[in-house]
Amino acid sequence: MEPLRTCTTPISAVNGKIVTTVEGLARSDGQLHPLQKAFLKHFSFQCGYSAPGFLMASLCLIDKLQRSPIPRTSIDNAIEEAVGQHVCRCTGYVRYYQAIREVILDTPGLVT
Ligand code: FES
Repeated sequence: MEPLRTCTTPISAVNGKIVTTVEGLARSDGQLHPLQKAFLKHFSFQCGYSAPGFLMASLCLIDKLQRSPIPRTSIDNAIEEAVGQHVCRCTGYVRYYQAIREVILDTPGLVT
């Protein structure tokens, strides 16, 4: 799984590939993904412009950590690297980072 900037990626670049958008995060039974639950719990977003980007970048981070766990002391750097280029004018990023950190720590096998 790798994040793509949808605004600058031509559709031909993903021809034949599986594409997951924020609409595909919740399970088919309507259960929200743990990241979505954590974002809601921490009031991570207000307007919703930034939320899809933060969610999908966080999902890519979780996927990456499932394949390659990191030391607990590297969590904040990993979050910064994963979502640091996303812009949110509402919440000051702290709540996003808190939510992502919580999911990483609550998901077995992501940290060593
Ligand atoms: S929630 Fe408003 S820009 Fe992110």
